[in-house]
This record gives sequence, structure tokens and C-alpha cells, in this order.
Amino acid sequence: MLKTKDILDEKNPILHKKCEEITFPLNKDDLKSIEDIYKYLRDSQDDELAKKEDLRPGMGMAFPQIGKLKRIFIISYKTEEGDFIEYTVINPKLISYSNEKVYVEEGEGCLSVNREVEGIVPRCARVTVGFYDEKGTYKEVRAREEIAVAFQHEMDHLDGIMFTDRIDKNNPFKDQDKMRSI
Ligand code: NI
Repeated sequence: MLKTKDILDEKNPILHKKCEEITFPLNKDDLKSIEDIYKYLRDSQDDELAKKEDLRPGMGMAFPQIGKLKRIFIISYKTEEGDFIEYTVINPKLISYSNEKVYVEEGEGCLSVNREVEGIVPRCARVTVGFYDEKGTYKEVRAREEIAVAFQHEMDHLDGIMFTDRIDKNNPFKDQDKMRSI
């Protein structure tokens, strides 16, 4: 079972490295990690369980965050209706993106960043991503809003880029007026 302490902190050099492409079939260890990540993310979005198990709420996690330099991430997003929108994303490629930019009003979060971060992270409002699922089936998803941001945030992790790297250091709120907040 994955615990909060197992998730690497931003200071860890692993999080700043580029991950490797995956070949199929996935090995047992990676399949187990995928299940562990799903469990963590789902449970973390349940207030009671999160408190009991000391989980930080999160809707996405990439393999480098558990110390594996592999191009895999999971998105598990609990809607207001209580359903989960979920993707296992392997070897993703950005196919197209909108010109319209958005940023997350309350600030982008990351399970590897345990501090308040000031500034905005410019993201495309919509992206189309091609990827393989855990069975090796190719898929394409047109994602919008929060899910689009999640895809971009997690794809960055696979290239060793943290959301904090996307914030302009000299002007953390640069171009805010040119973007829509979500
Ligand atoms: Ni993150």
C-alpha cells in the first residue's frame, strides 16, 4: 500500500530527470504500482479516509513521484457527483492544444510539493493526447479544463518538469490578464 511518505519530495533529483518509454506487456511490479496509485488517489479524495490514512488529496500521480523513471501516470478525478474520471496514461504524446490559456485560480497542487507556491501556471485550456493504456491499447483523449491541466501537469513530470518550473520567477503573475482562471 502506498503511503504519503513514499511519495518523493520535489527536492529529490529523480523528479527532475526524464523518464523512459515503456514497452509492453507491463511487468507485474509496474501493474502493482498502477493499482497502488489508483488506491491512493481515490482514497485521498474521500475526506474520512484521507484523514484516517493521512493522505494528501490528489487527482494525479506520475511514476517518477514513486521513484520510477518510467513514462506512466494516473489521473483519478472525483467529480461533484462522486464519480471518478480516470485514465492510465503510458507513453503519452501531445497531439494538439488550444491557443486559449487557463490557470488554476487556487494554485496548482502537486503531491511532491509540500509548501505554498505563489504564482500562476499557464496551461492550455484544451489538449488532445494520444497514449497507451495498461493493456497496450492506443487511445486519444480530448481533455478540457481541470482534466486538461492534469494531463499537462503529469506529462511534465515525465520530462522532469515541476509545475513550479512553469512559474515566472521574476514575475509570478505574468500575463494573468491574458488567461482565464478555472
Ligand atoms: Ni505533480
